[in-house]
Amino acid sequence: MSDLYCVIGNPIAHSKSPQIHAAYARQTGQDLAYERCLAPLDGFEATVRRLVAEGYRGANVTLPFKLEAARLATRLAPRAQAAGAVNTLVFEQGEIVGDNTDGPGLVADIVRNAGVPLGGKRILLLGAGGAARGALLPMLMENPRQIVIANRTLATADKLVADFAAHAERLAVTGFADVEGSFDVVINATSASLAADVPPVPASVFGPGVLALDMMYGAQPTVFMAFAASHGAEVRDGLGMLVEQAAEAFLLWRGVRPDTASVMASMRLAR
Ligand code: ATR
Repeated sequence: MSDLYCVIGNPIAHSKSPQIHAAYARQTGQDLAYERCLAPLDGFEATVRRLVAEGYRGANVTLPFKLEAARLATRLAPRAQAAGAVNTLVFEQGEIVGDNTDGPGLVADIVRNAGVPLGGKRILLLGAGGAARGALLPMLMENPRQIVIANRTLATADKLVADFAAHAERLAVTGFADVEGSFDVVINATSASLAADVPPVPASVFGPGVLALDMMYGAQPTVFMAFAASHGAEVRDGLGMLVEQAAEAFLLWRGVRPDTASVMASMRLAR
């Protein structure tokens, strides 16, 4: 029988993860099955326990369960600990190991796919929720010159920086309207695009030579991408990050890193 994996979320019908993992399995010759798993909003833990009992080898976790997954894990990888959130579970030897591949997926997409190294760069990170938190440590590990965190609620951004006190000299906090200076990379880690909102940063942060990436994706460019592009930035949606975080999870589970370029190309065509 194939090794079993799934992605747990609510809602989950829209998830592209089964498609991506099926492509990775074909490509690497790994014998596994990967499906969607809808967990009741109050039934995440029961769902995970059932999967473990049924012999599943691991799972991805998506909204709204990433924080609960971090609490449920019996062991956390350092990057999941720093993120306070888990998107990948490995069920092994009676343990539920929690990891977070979202941030590494983002960095891989920027550095490898977009070809923009982050070393020495100035980065503007919009948002201070779970998505921003998950991105912070993997980005800091690339040695940027500075990461400016802008958020609607300043206290949340202050708390985020306080939790990364060891890196305080490379972090700064500001409100959207008060963002100053120029940036090499601007990352939208807010959920504003879901409401067709753009964080109200000065248009001057975008321009030629700036990479503007929205962690969200859809059939059309997000309003953030449209705004950034209209001011001259190069834009990217979150599809690359999705494909890369899946590759990183696949590596954790199977010990092989799949090639992401071909899968990304077919996902783009399928939209
Ligand atoms: P996620 O896990 O997607 O990061 P989250 O933890 O709820 O979700 O965080 C959502 C982020 O998007 C926060 O930074 C939030 O700002 P606040 O801290 O002020 O709530 C931000 N956000 C959500 N809707 C927004 C909007 N319409 N404009 C700007 N920022 C928004």
